Amino acid sequence: MARFPLALQGKRLPKCYTISATAVSMGQETNFTPATKPSDEVSSRKKVMVIGGDGYCGWATSLHLSNKNYEVAVVDNLVRRLFDHQLGLDSLTPISSIHNRVRRWKTLTGKDIQLYIGDICDFEFLAETFTSFKPDALVHFGEQRSAPYSMIDRSRAIFTQQNNVLGTLNVLFAIKEFREDCHLVKLGTMGEYGTPNIDIEEGYITITHNGRTDTLPFPKQASSFYHLSKVHDSHNIAFTCKAWGIRATDLNQGVVYGVRTDETAMHEELYNRLDYDGVFGTALNRFCVQAAVGHPLTVYGKGGQTRGYLDIRDTVQCVELAIANPAQRGEFRVFNQFTEQFSVNELAALVTRVGQKLGLEVQTISVPNPRVEAEEHYYNAKHTKLVELGLKPHLLSDSLLDSLLNFAIQYKDRVDSKQIMPNVSWKNIGVKTKTVTA
Ligand SMILES: NC(=O)c1ccc[n+]([C@@H]2O[C@H](COP(=O)([O-])OP(=O)(O)OC[C@H]3O[C@@H](n4cnc5c(N)ncnc54)[C@H](O)[C@@H]3O)[C@@H](O)[C@H]2O)c1
Repeated sequence: MARFPLALQGKRLPKCYTISATAVSMGQETNFTPATKPSDEVSSRKKVMVIGGDGYCGWATSLHLSNKNYEVAVVDNLVRRLFDHQLGLDSLTPISSIHNRVRRWKTLTGKDIQLYIGDICDFEFLAETFTSFKPDALVHFGEQRSAPYSMIDRSRAIFTQQNNVLGTLNVLFAIKEFREDCHLVKLGTMGEYGTPNIDIEEGYITITHNGRTDTLPFPKQASSFYHLSKVHDSHNIAFTCKAWGIRATDLNQGVVYGVRTDETAMHEELYNRLDYDGVFGTALNRFCVQAAVGHPLTVYGKGGQTRGYLDIRDTVQCVELAIANPAQRGEFRVFNQFTEQFSVNELAALVTRVGQKLGLEVQTISVPNPRVEAEEHYYNAKHTKLVELGLKPHLLSDSLLDSLLNFAIQYKDRVDSKQIMPNVSWKNIGVKTKTVTA
């Protein structure tokens, strides 16, 4: 099966980005203060496999869990870095290779993060990571996560659904075969629900219909091939919880903003990626970068699109809470993982206010909406379950925005303004593979 049928300047890419089943030991460095736990306690530490651990949420989470004394293994095929090379994009922040990242972490803290470089769609590779690492919990971030990317052309739509749906299916089979007690913590998205004209519940809704009552999965109305891949994942996971007794938590995450966590701030080589481009950049992160370089904030259409948002420091907190309080065998648990709701216009107004305080001239323009979505709508989504487990949210404040804007200003010379405008149209997606030219 062709796994990655994309064209770059007219050429087919070889399937060479997967290094199968490579377990790299990163314990070679010596100039560090030893970890605080004596070695006889090490075996009692909970083992967490972080799939997608080289990505934006995954890297911050891997460091956070390692810092909290979980035994962590990162599994990643580095395809996110490949997308950047193919599309001519780059993170605002310079990011080190995953090998240097884990080496630096070891020198700073004495803690090992194991590294498995490979593709979870390759079951042999995944099986080897399971039998070698033996995870107690698995956090699955390892998917193609951009809605615009999935809407570029047919080949990207197919890649997204194959990669995400089949990768997750492999994870479910691996748990069943090798670690049936392993708790799956899977990243879903609030985008699975769409924007219904009723309150959004956390995963389930109780409905009375023709005199009978049942509690059913909340209706899903995804709005891109990417979001649809997440809906398919949720159904597959729910089914295997019932059929095989898998224990799973689906974290329907909102849009994440921010770049620093306590751990990534420890050293430049630990810095996280920050995407601002029209394909991978998410609202707020993108607005801050636009404000820093004097580019007008690009509001799509009327700007009334309202979504749930959270600070990356809360992403890592939520995942830790889910792992520390696992689902029961056979339980398919759904948490809505965000802390506040904003419309795009509200975010633009916040960035304008804080940017002006910093002496920036911030303008906003409305650009034609490349997506097919409601631009004015009701939105009220529940998000209490993680708070009940102990989440202490970092709410969006002027000081956070101030530091994010200052971060963007620090790196503004790295910004390629040509990448900022949206250039993927939901309506114009075609069957022909789009070729990227310089
Ligand atoms: N960033 C957000 O705002 C946001 C919001 C809601 C949900 N999410 C979800 O959180 C997860 C992580 O998002 P992110 O922003 O960190 O994305 P990201 O693209 O930065 O990271 C994903 C990582 O997974 C890896 N990966 C992808 N396919 C893989 C495969 N087949 N095998 C092994 N590794 C693979 C990539 O190389 C990358 O390092 C995604 O599932 C995404 O849908 C993110």
